[in-house]
Amino acid sequence: MKREIIKTGDGSTTIHIPEWNEQYHSKHGAIQEARHVFINMGLLPVISSVRNEELSILEIGFGTGLNALVTWEVSQREKVLIHYTGVEAYPVEHEEVKHLNFSHEVKVPEAVDFFENIHTASWENTNKIDSHFTLIKQKKFFQEINDVDRYNLIYFDAFGARVQPDLWTVDIFLKMYNALKVDGVLVTYAAKGSVRRALQEVGFLVERLPGPPGKREMLRATKK
Ligand SMILES: C[S@@+](CC[C@H](N)C(=O)[O-])C[C@H]1O[C@@H](n2cnc3c(N)ncnc32)[C@H](O)[C@@H]1O
Repeated sequence: MKREIIKTGDGSTTIHIPEWNEQYHSKHGAIQEARHVFINMGLLPVISSVRNEELSILEIGFGTGLNALVTWEVSQREKVLIHYTGVEAYPVEHEEVKHLNFSHEVKVPEAVDFFENIHTASWENTNKIDSHFTLIKQKKFFQEINDVDRYNLIYFDAFGARVQPDLWTVDIFLKMYNALKVDGVLVTYAAKGSVRRALQEVGFLVERLPGPPGKREMLRATKK
């Protein structure tokens, strides 16, 4: 499918898919959304509750690497070792990465090297990016995930149910539930009732939380 780079409301870029009229991030602000949904509502509460110096994150849809970038910022600041696994079936091209402005927009000097390193990192291997961040990029379909008891946190960042309804189902959420450790957390920007009910059906405790600018609500699901 054709992909175009566009600017969002906070000045950061994202990828737009004209055929679906769908973006990789919120049009109101890509970095703003990533920090709100995945960091403030996901990573920071998990760091406080795990009280461990290391934790594992699974990202559903590695895409542009923006969520990895804002997670890395926290790993540096909080001195937490993060083992990050990003699953992606359709990796972005190097030419596209060159036109994404995230590493400049986050205003942390080392971000430029980090962003370059995660995109040149090899697939399927553990890449030690620095002393607080390891990365495994897995090129596969979400439907092929069969991990058990492995992650503290899942960033569920698939395209919306409007365009990929098969990814917001009990089948997929059961895989997510199994992949998490007990007390593990899944966060997503989505807030639809059908998504919330599918998460509850597989056993998650689900909270509705305030969404990022431009979106009233989002969901956080905990494995108890
Ligand atoms: C909303 S975007 C992810 C955005 C990403 N988290 C970021 O920060 O750029 C959804 C991603 O899921 C990928 N994708 C779509 N269907 C998939 C599938 N069935 N299995 C694996 N990846 C898939 C797309 O290629 C896209 O990169």
